[in-house]
Amino acid sequence: MLRVKKVHVKSYGCQMNVYDAERMADVLAKEGYVETARIEDADLVVLNTCHIREKAVEKVYSELGRVRELKSERASAGRDTRVVVAGCVAQAEGAEIVRRAPVVDVVVGPQSYHRLPQLLAAAGPARPALDTDFPLDDKFQHLPARERAAIRGRGVSAFLTVQEGCDKFCTFCVVPYTRGAEVSRPVAAIVAEAERLADAGVREFTLLGQNVNAYHGVGPDGRVWTLGRLLGRLARIEGVARLRYTTSHPRDMDDELIAAHGELPALMPYLHLPVQAGADHILAAMNRRHTADGYRRLIDRIRAARPDIALSSDFIVGFPGESDADFAETLRLVDDVRFASAYSFKYSIRPGTPAADLGEQVPEAVKAARLAELQARLERDREAFNRTMVGRTLDVLVERAGRQPGQLAGKSPYLQGVHFEGGTAAVGDIVPLAIVAAQPGSLLGRQAGVRDGDRRAPVVESPHRSADAA
Ligand code: SAH
Ligand code: SF4
Ligand code: F3S
Repeated sequence: MLRVKKVHVKSYGCQMNVYDAERMADVLAKEGYVETARIEDADLVVLNTCHIREKAVEKVYSELGRVRELKSERASAGRDTRVVVAGCVAQAEGAEIVRRAPVVDVVVGPQSYHRLPQLLAAAGPARPALDTDFPLDDKFQHLPARERAAIRGRGVSAFLTVQEGCDKFCTFCVVPYTRGAEVSRPVAAIVAEAERLADAGVREFTLLGQNVNAYHGVGPDGRVWTLGRLLGRLARIEGVARLRYTTSHPRDMDDELIAAHGELPALMPYLHLPVQAGADHILAAMNRRHTADGYRRLIDRIRAARPDIALSSDFIVGFPGESDADFAETLRLVDDVRFASAYSFKYSIRPGTPAADLGEQVPEAVKAARLAELQARLERDREAFNRTMVGRTLDVLVERAGRQPGQLAGKSPYLQGVHFEGGTAAVGDIVPLAIVAAQPGSLLGRQAGVRDGDRRAPVVESPHRSADAA
């Protein structure tokens, strides 16, 4: 009898890598691989990597060290283990990986993973296969349609890539090099994928793109559609209860998209809109192409369209040339906007990017102190925002069992985790919950009642994929 082949996919970095990992698992399922959460059981290990900061890259090489040990343990038990490195490190350092890590069989970039079966067939012992092309044809056309069972296993909230790549070339960032130029998927392909997901029980859709609000896909009418228009189309699909999108660039928040926030009930009142820094000359050196006040004015316009919108951002501290006064401008911006949540990072030199060659690199200790100060301030605002929820009733999309027996957990419209005693709710329901407390990691809710027409068959979430935050 043929033994079932098992694959373990581990993703690092951003949500698009999570999406790509799912699609790679779909490709491999066609080859007879079933997913396993246990790397020790895997006949095939796929590391879906991130190149954004030096630490992310170090993680990959240290994981490859562990995989090498695992491979030799399995070999002594007579079992073979094959290893794939995919994602942005594969794209950026493919040849280097092949040289440094002989354990690797296949190196495949983010635009060519639909060719995984051929690459695995071509690779042999001491003969790794490498594919880091940016093919002209679109990988999505070659990916198998997502199977109902696989979708259901992944829960009621799904990622859906609508745009990929970046033409912005911020001077600190590797993404334009690892993901390539901006490409938008056609509207019809996105609608078809969303319908398939909705039909399998997905309620919440997070549209993904490195620069998602620069979306400019071809519509069924042959014209170029914006993200605002696409969102309006997706909101009409039966079963689509919630829409989100990430990550946006401030320069691409057009009027139609801002208006959509006021007009589409399915579009959730939460927006991740990275600003990176608060001093104009740092923003200019980063090539962000907007000022701090430009960002403030943009936030005012978005809040005018959707007054309760929760905002989130990314920040970089210690960009080359950043002075104490510049950093104070970042803090001032934070105080003005009051973000509901945020990610913040120390600037990390990325070889090959323009900022890597700038003089005036900021000392590590200064970066660390600034990061601590910024994070304390952001945490203050996050907690304050969460406290304003206490006493309110929020619609919560039930996603999974909670930590305690009888508990369920889900997400508020503002992307906050909420847990509550199960009652009559099922995974996939959207239930109004009275928020009774704001705890450090999540809100505590109490069930008031299940909405008519919001019942869906339960979907069980599988623990088959691990993701580390970028
Ligand atoms: N496309 C998105 C995010 C890309 S990467 C955008 O335009 O904002 C996610 C975040 O990582 C960035 O927003 C930035 O804050 C951070 N980042 C990117 N390059 C970095 C670097 N070299 N050092 C530190 N942080 C970085
Ligand atoms: Fe990187 Fe800037 Fe593009 Fe975002 S917009 S992916 S930060 S280059
Ligand atoms: Fe994402 Fe990291 Fe690549 S953030 S686009 S996986 S470099």
